[in-house]
Amino acid sequence: MRKNLIKKEYLKKIKQFENYNKKYFDENKPIISDSDFDNLKYEIIELEKKYQYLKSKNSPSNKVGFKPSKNFKKANHKVPMLSLSNAFSEEDLINFEKKTANFLSVKSDFKLFYSVEPKIDGISASLTYENGNFVRGLSRGDGKEGEDITDNLNTIKDIPKKIVSKDFPEAIDIRGEVFIRNSKFENLRDKFANPRNAASGSLRQKNPEDTKKIPLNFIAYTFGFENGLKVENQSDFLKKLEEWGFKINPLNKLISGVENLIDNYNKIEKKRADLDFDIDGIVYKVNDFALQKRLGNVANAPRWAVAHKFSSNKAISQIKDIEIQIGRTGALTPVAKIKPINIGGVQVSNATLHNEDEIIRKDIRIGDTVTVERAGDVIPHVVSVDTSRRKNILKKFIFPKKCPCGYETIKEFNKITKKFDAVRRCPDRGFECNRIAKEKLKHFVSKEAFNIDGFGKKIAEKFWELNLIRLPQDIFKLDYDKIEKLDGWGKLSSDNLRYSVDEKKQISLERFIYSLGIRHIGLENAKILARYFESFQKFKILSKKNNYNDLLNIDGIGETQLVSIKSFFSKNINVKILNELDKVLNIQDAKAVNNKGLLKNMSFLVTGKLNNISRAEVKSLIEENSGTTVSSVSKKLNYLITGEKPTKKKVESAKALKIKIIDQDEFLRILNKTS
Ligand code: IVH
Repeated sequence: MRKNLIKKEYLKKIKQFENYNKKYFDENKPIISDSDFDNLKYEIIELEKKYQYLKSKNSPSNKVGFKPSKNFKKANHKVPMLSLSNAFSEEDLINFEKKTANFLSVKSDFKLFYSVEPKIDGISASLTYENGNFVRGLSRGDGKEGEDITDNLNTIKDIPKKIVSKDFPEAIDIRGEVFIRNSKFENLRDKFANPRNAASGSLRQKNPEDTKKIPLNFIAYTFGFENGLKVENQSDFLKKLEEWGFKINPLNKLISGVENLIDNYNKIEKKRADLDFDIDGIVYKVNDFALQKRLGNVANAPRWAVAHKFSSNKAISQIKDIEIQIGRTGALTPVAKIKPINIGGVQVSNATLHNEDEIIRKDIRIGDTVTVERAGDVIPHVVSVDTSRRKNILKKFIFPKKCPCGYETIKEFNKITKKFDAVRRCPDRGFECNRIAKEKLKHFVSKEAFNIDGFGKKIAEKFWELNLIRLPQDIFKLDYDKIEKLDGWGKLSSDNLRYSVDEKKQISLERFIYSLGIRHIGLENAKILARYFESFQKFKILSKKNNYNDLLNIDGIGETQLVSIKSFFSKNINVKILNELDKVLNIQDAKAVNNKGLLKNMSFLVTGKLNNISRAEVKSLIEENSGTTVSSVSKKLNYLITGEKPTKKKVESAKALKIKIIDQDEFLRILNKTS
């Protein structure tokens, strides 16, 4: 049974890997980050190591890259194009050197020399030369068979088309990396996530004329098949490459000793943001070809080389500027504009500095060298400053005390913590501050709010810049004749937009309240308020009746929300907006809440997968019947509903607290929904 489960899990991962691989190599459209892709690969290989019975021809352990695309003719590499094994730490490097020395059975005082080469993050290619002429160029493909991309490679200036040097071998495959310079990538930022994708996309265009449009470079570093090569080690080979007219990496070095490798690695990591090409690590190759030959290969990687990778979630860069962004609630957020750096496959050029206090605490200045972290979906942020690299002339950063709208900013006093907030804000001026107004409009059209097809945050921003919208009601009175004439629009797109906007004129009260972006009124509170007021008219006259304190009777609404709602209604501009929206929208009444439902005073939590019913549906069934849902097991919980593969910990804690554990059928029976 367990064996079956493991196999199922393994095959699922293989299938995912196949899919990501295809997107990455065949379509140049990666759908996950490089680091997530590497993690998946690692998980599969670890499973194979642990359970010897797991095997698949599609396993990453059998593969390099992906099968060549159908756009090009295929050809075999005379000598396969291998991959490199990775090292992530000093410990990994010590082990690599130990293993190498053991294999060669050399004494511990034997000095291994490495050719040390920055690992450019581009696309590898193999160039076949016969009698000094460039005759064919292949992509790596799956390592054994590549695509014939000769015509596209011929457009690259760095690739010598004819070599006349006497010592150039009669036949040789020169291998290296095709890449695009970071400075050239700037203009392609909108189209590709990183320079590597841009290079790959350009190199594999069907039409070489399209390849020519994107300036590609080539750096040579190794060879495949050869006939007549008279060189004994890698560092001499690199020198020869230069003599023959190839570009080689200016940062190549010859080094021995792990501590010196680490020293070089640290120095290059600090320089990374200043380089005009993307590198994702450093390659160490045993320099002596005779030793390389003895070491040979394992599976699809040589035993004589290793890639020392940079972290996939942290990188060092430099702050070029600090910008202050104004959020929807008026918060001033400092954002560091950094020299673009690739972190785990994503080019990062902005990193949040959180707030004024954080800048003071870390003493962050424009020009500083900083470590930036990008983990998961979290916005990249500055983790630390390397003050040892600070030049004396850098001035302390003075946080602006005024919002760009001209208003003095404030730091609120938190009554609970008895401290001033770390965040500086433009006082709650709402639509009166044009910086806040723009953010409020972006919120108004967001997914959970009006969610207008084809009218996302970017369009809101653009229409704002073009002065087409200033207040929410403007969205429903757009000048479509003007929009039709905008760059990239036209009749069809403008008609489509009109259709989607009109479609959203009908909206539920809870979505409407949420879309107003009243501070402290998120999705949940908007729902609570909608149920309380039931209709837009009752909500709107709140300002007239002035009976805000009644709101405190609503379960879930406290002093903080009350102050915020009061402040919203106290502004004439907001009341005017409500009146104007009332004219153009059809705001639907909220369903009356059933306070006497079957599940009154009962709380529920779902764990595991349910059958033919979604969690959202269960939640709404519970709420319709006056029950509540909670997010964790505690004494307050009455029922834990378990589906397939429930979270073990939740079930155990529920048992310990003697909470009733029921399955889906029992739950529906309680509701009298089953026959
Ligand atoms: S040597 C057998 N040298 O890294 C050795 N590769 O994962 C294989 N790369 O496909 C190549 N810089 O795209 C080598 N100086 C360098 C490199 C380098 C970048 C890339 C190359 C290769 C991948 C290996």
